[in-house]
Amino acid sequence: MEVIIRDDAEAGCLLAAKIIAKLVRDKPHAVLGLATGRTPLRLYQELIRLHRAEGLDFSRVTTFNLDEYVGLPSEHEQSYRYFMRENFFRHINIDQVRTHVPNGTAADLHAECRAYEERIVAAGGIDLQLLGLGRNGHIGFNEPTGSLRSRTWIKILSEQTLQDNSDVFGSLESMPHHAITMGIGTILDAKRCLLIAFGPSKTRAVERMVEGPLSSMCPASALQLHPRATVVLDEGAAAGLE
Ligand code: F6R
Repeated sequence: MEVIIRDDAEAGCLLAAKIIAKLVRDKPHAVLGLATGRTPLRLYQELIRLHRAEGLDFSRVTTFNLDEYVGLPSEHEQSYRYFMRENFFRHINIDQVRTHVPNGTAADLHAECRAYEERIVAAGGIDLQLLGLGRNGHIGFNEPTGSLRSRTWIKILSEQTLQDNSDVFGSLESMPHHAITMGIGTILDAKRCLLIAFGPSKTRAVERMVEGPLSSMCPASALQLHPRATVVLDEGAAAGLE
């Protein structure tokens, strides 16, 4: 695992954006795995800037998002499809048909999960998977104790994740308790993984991911098995590392 520490989240996001931009320039038909959440917002802003200022071309890029809440339609403001459209896709020249987010309102959710895996394979696999990190060590919505070989499936959100993400829903009750997420096995199949984590709330999870034993209690520790995993941190998130 390659660990890169920058002074702050701003510098970390700029570096991560640079890595993604280089891939898109080198391989215009790249397949990107994307994440939502607070952490990558600045990174998406920088990619939008590069598109506008330097003509970074997304017209042939394909994307697959990690996860989506079960039961939220794409027009719901808290759905991840909505997040991606508002914070990234509508500001760049990507072909919407090439953007994939699991459908949390599919009539047959299990069939949707299997189809999502098939779509990734049909696209040639993911060249680079962007990841954030949950305070409990989750990646995607793969919560502690889940299988480290899991594939895209429906997962129950942990108490900690519900607490961490419920503010935007107004209350715990109005928040979905299930999500479709790529599995750890799906994530490890990506040719490269790029995880970004910033701030002291992530220090403990970073320590367990990088230095802790490989354990389903910290799903992100599975990245220790990946031949090409890059972790970009700020000083705060890296504070617990030896
Ligand atoms: C989001 C995702 C989650 C987040 C994680 C961190 O698509 O898969 O694993 O990356 O919960 O969220 P933030 O960035 O909001 O701290």
